Amino acid sequence: MSHPFDYSGKNIVITGAFSGVGAALLDVLQELGAPHVTALDIKKPEGPINAFIETNMGNSASVAEAAAQINGPIDVLFNNAGIAATHPPLTVMAVNWLGLRELSEHLLPKMSEGGAIANTASIAGGQWPPHLQDVLDCIGVEDHDESLKWCEEHAELVGDGYAFSKECVQVYTMKSAKQTLSRSIRTNSVCPSPIDTPLLPEFNETMTEKTMNWTIDQCGGEIATARDVALALAFLGSDASRYINGVNINVDMGFNAFMTTGQLDFSGLS
Ligand SMILES: NC(=O)c1ccc[n+]([C@@H]2O[C@H](COP(=O)([O-])OP(=O)(O)OC[C@H]3O[C@@H](n4cnc5c(N)ncnc54)[C@H](O)[C@@H]3O)[C@@H](O)[C@H]2O)c1
Repeated sequence: MSHPFDYSGKNIVITGAFSGVGAALLDVLQELGAPHVTALDIKKPEGPINAFIETNMGNSASVAEAAAQINGPIDVLFNNAGIAATHPPLTVMAVNWLGLRELSEHLLPKMSEGGAIANTASIAGGQWPPHLQDVLDCIGVEDHDESLKWCEEHAELVGDGYAFSKECVQVYTMKSAKQTLSRSIRTNSVCPSPIDTPLLPEFNETMTEKTMNWTIDQCGGEIATARDVALALAFLGSDASRYINGVNINVDMGFNAFMTTGQLDFSGLS
């Protein structure tokens, strides 16, 4: 009998598996039963995959073409690709948020009952509660171009695009979980604190090295590895999490808990 974390025989789709968390997830998936993996990325991953479809997640035609090439039934979709705000805000929104939604919606009809969608959000997207309606308004715009137009018209809210795109992913994770459950498919996300991946220098640039180092310090002084986050994603995609749905799981060594209970030490930031 297979154990609840087993991935053997599963059909997996993953975005952003060339480097960082996605590349680590390929290794974890191999350890957990070597499923059939289709990777969507702008660069071909070197890790264990069965198929590669060159895809720009920020381009809706590219996402639609990739989705059309994927045969079902798909058991697990990992929406992991993401970029930092070293890119223009609308590009960040297109890759981190719109592409994720479009791929999920294209592939949902091809997913098997009991399947799972696991998104990579961020703790940077955790500030949605005071302005939930804004985020709901944004994710309520269905068309790609109309969505970008909405973002242009709400430039102050969208900012550099990174935090807001991840707020959209967190709120969409909760909202779409109801729709996917009607097909017995669970939707969840991981919300990591800083991770030691090729993207980190870009965050040091956009959020300042001081803020990133302070955040890592508040996480106990140790930065998350790509594997730490990949293991949490693998859990959310596995049958071991079969009753977890619509949840944004912080993979942050307690950072959010310390923030909520007033235990962050801001002295290092001044
Ligand atoms: N590194 C961090 O500190 C951190 C913290 C929280 C959340 N995250 C999130 O983790 C996820 C993985 O990032 P990472 O840190 O492993 O970075 P990474 O740069 O190593 O990985 C990103 C992956 O996405 C791919 N990609 C980039 N642009 C793409 C596009 N337009 N279309 C398709 N694929 C594209 C890259 O080729 C790469 O494989 C992202 O969603 C990121 O926002 C990262």
